[in-house]
Amino acid sequence: MAQRLVVVGGGRMGSALVAGLLSSGWAEPDELVVSDPDPSARRRLSEQHSGLVVTDIVPEVTDVLLAVKPDVAESTCRVLAAQGARRVLSIVAGLATARLEAALPPDCVVVRAMPNTPSLVGAGVSAISGGHSATSGDLDWAQGVLSAVGTVVRLPERYLDAVTGLSGSGPAYVFLMAEALIDAGVAVGLQRDVSRELVVGTLLGAARLLAETGAEPAVLRAEVTSPGGTTAAGLRTLEYRAVRSAFIEAVASATERSHQLGR
Ligand SMILES: NC(=O)c1ccc[n+]([C@@H]2O[C@H](COP(=O)([O-])OP(=O)(O)OC[C@H]3O[C@@H](n4cnc5c(N)ncnc54)[C@H](OP(=O)(O)O)[C@@H]3O)[C@@H](O)[C@H]2O)c1
Repeated sequence: MAQRLVVVGGGRMGSALVAGLLSSGWAEPDELVVSDPDPSARRRLSEQHSGLVVTDIVPEVTDVLLAVKPDVAESTCRVLAAQGARRVLSIVAGLATARLEAALPPDCVVVRAMPNTPSLVGAGVSAISGGHSATSGDLDWAQGVLSAVGTVVRLPERYLDAVTGLSGSGPAYVFLMAEALIDAGVAVGLQRDVSRELVVGTLLGAARLLAETGAEPAVLRAEVTSPGGTTAAGLRTLEYRAVRSAFIEAVASATERSHQLGR
């Protein structure tokens, strides 16, 4: 069958995208090629997906998903240029479309994406931005690829530092909250495994309620806060400890750091 996409970099994100593209039916195994210099990455991918073409060289390409680390991204683009790349979807954190375009031929389209780690379980959220020559058809294509591992929003590139600070780093904020809540459950007498089960279930359930009802978080919070009750007492402590402003400052700091790293 015809090659539809070359995935350059078969690490955590590249592998997750390959798995998503195959399980969603976006591609058959023999329509994808994965290029990675690491023999163990190639072996793992071959074992997981029968029929997938896995190689240590960058083959001749048209459409590319660039999933290498930032420090090798521009040199990899120069190799892709020599191999005929026409359209590159980059998930490389912090690397602007202008820098990728400078390492690629002038007629090569670039779309930049900022995914997050829940993509590894098909529950990611990504923002995409087109480079100077990307059309809405190119953004449709990029959205089709990333939809295999989660939801996708389209934004002008100037917002990608904010996306990095919010949803890119966001899973870590939630993991920190989960750690704290599990410890809190232990502190009030629950076994750690029981506390973990209750916390994970609460996070999943609250996220589903938000997503499935479409209700504002403040409304859902008010609905579980009886006057003078237990939740009101807990929330009073969180507000007293300035948890809300801690989140606001955390996202602002991460956004600023993303801006610094991208310079
Ligand atoms: N993980 C995340 O949550 C996340 C979120 C958003 C964006 N990203 C971005 O996604 C990209 C990949 O991240 P990752 O976590 O998947 O990294 P990773 O697990 O280290 O995967 C990168 C893979 O690319 C391979 N590679 C290196 N040079 C190559 C080349 N010239 N051609 C082909 N493959 C090459 C690496 O092989 P070696 O190990 O031999 O070098 C490695 O297997 C990064 O740019 C990161 O910024 C990641």
